[in-house]
Amino acid sequence: MYSYYGPLCTELYDLTKPVGYSIGGDIEYYLERLKGTKGKVLEAGVGSGRFLIPLLEKGYKVEGIDYSPEMLDLCRKRCEERGFMPNLYEGNLSNFSIDSKFEAIVMPTGSLCLIENSKDAMDALKCMYNHLIPGGRLIVDLLLPTDWRTGETSSSYYEISKEEGIALERKAVEMNWIDQYTLTVLKYEKWRNGKLIDSELQRFPLRWYGIEEFQHILTSLGFSDITCSAEYIYNKKPSKEHSLITFEAVRK
Ligand SMILES: C[S@@+](CC[C@H](N)C(=O)[O-])C[C@H]1O[C@@H](n2cnc3c(N)ncnc32)[C@H](O)[C@@H]1O
Repeated sequence: MYSYYGPLCTELYDLTKPVGYSIGGDIEYYLERLKGTKGKVLEAGVGSGRFLIPLLEKGYKVEGIDYSPEMLDLCRKRCEERGFMPNLYEGNLSNFSIDSKFEAIVMPTGSLCLIENSKDAMDALKCMYNHLIPGGRLIVDLLLPTDWRTGETSSSYYEISKEEGIALERKAVEMNWIDQYTLTVLKYEKWRNGKLIDSELQRFPLRWYGIEEFQHILTSLGFSDITCSAEYIYNKKPSKEHSLITFEAVRK
């Protein structure tokens, strides 16, 4: 019934979050945290290249992995337009295997929370651990649903040209307290001169974690030197109104 990061979602992502568009200061924060990194960096859930390309432009050796062919095609296109040819891998974060180790693996804007099932998320973190060099760092954002309201709906309209545009409807369907996720359903519609020409329905679960819980998960996987920072301010202690938390952890 549902599509996942399909063509319309990708088109709208590229329109509203183009290459270099910083979401709440994520690009600046990660660039600062990566300073001094000489080895390879992997962006997990690379998407359209919004975040990867500014890192390439700063001279980092960045590669990306994603399971959406549409997102990867767009990322390749956006890289080529700028003369970059990074390694981009198609694969699921929960079971990927790349013949390379990284000095850092980064996952901004809460992409990890898109992995709904706790076992799959654990497997993804394990895979990331295994792809780090000893002393390599994982930097990952988590989102907390601090302003969640079940039943809330919203609609937005985005103009592509005089003839075409995309309408997006969001519905906050469920807060699952037991399995720790929120479920939003996203309906994308593409319109041309008042006629509907394409549509896509996306299930959009976001898994949330307690701060201590996530620290325990990282520790149990073998990570050390774990820090946790709110709102892209390094080491800023999270409090109850914060919805974006960044964890940093080192592979022993
Ligand atoms: C919100 S987008 C973020 C894209 C990019 N990191 C950015 O910051 O602009 C999340 C991306 O993660 C990818 N993704 C989600 N779950 C994944 C999984 N289990 N394995 C691989 N990619 C995944 C999606 O296909 C999508 O491209």
